[in-house]
Amino acid sequence: MSVALVVPAAGSGERLGLPLPKALADLAGAPLVRRTLERLAITKAFSETVVLVPAAHLSAFEQALAGLPAGLGTVLVRPGGSSRQASVWAGLEAIGPACDLICVHDAARPLIEPATVIKVMDEARRHGAATAASRPADSVRIDVAEGTKALDRRRLWLVETPQVFEASVLRRAHEHARAGGVEGTDDASLVEALGLEIRIVASQGCNLKVTNRADLIAARELLAFSAAAPH
Ligand code: CTP
Ligand code: MG
Repeated sequence: MSVALVVPAAGSGERLGLPLPKALADLAGAPLVRRTLERLAITKAFSETVVLVPAAHLSAFEQALAGLPAGLGTVLVRPGGSSRQASVWAGLEAIGPACDLICVHDAARPLIEPATVIKVMDEARRHGAATAASRPADSVRIDVAEGTKALDRRRLWLVETPQVFEASVLRRAHEHARAGGVEGTDDASLVEALGLEIRIVASQGCNLKVTNRADLIAARELLAFSAAAPH
């Protein structure tokens, strides 16, 4: 079964607030997007990869992604869109028609465990659609008419990437969302809107998303820690 990888990296990183795009932020000597792709390459699972980048920074990203390790198939760098969803759509347009599964993973999650990627792919192979997710560590409350109300965090999932889908399902979900003018924050919600079930895989380790300055500092520390740890 051939698997294509789509990596949205076209955001500006407004909340991080650096003068360069977030995916080019330095993470212990290499750009964030490169660290993420190096982790994904360890799986050796992909026959082709498309990275969506800010149109104005195409050549900087091509440079940042030159000479990646094997395991990603052919790597294409393409301009993304004005939203994450538009960037994934640009990725769907760039990948070949032959792949069976599509794995979407945000450039902003550089600490992804290869074992998690493999598990999400296995679930998608069996059931058509799967995502990595984690339980909240904090207590959670929800707004209600008369204030707020506690939720049982043991029944809640924080949805992450990777998300893996049968290729035809993901294409259909994006076409459906575009036709209805729907903008989702992830691909699983678009697939769910077709009436399909999303399988959950609990993430191993810390699948941190780099959003703000504290996340970038934490990611640098965690990366140094995992590089030093014996395998
Ligand atoms: N993304 C994208 N195209 C966009 C917006 C986001 O490919 N137009 C990507 C980001 O590069 C990131 C992932 O989607 O890898 C998740 O988005 P987020 O963490 O929100 O990144 P940014 O949008 O860059 O950050 P911010 O919202 O703070 O501007
Ligand atoms: Mg964003």
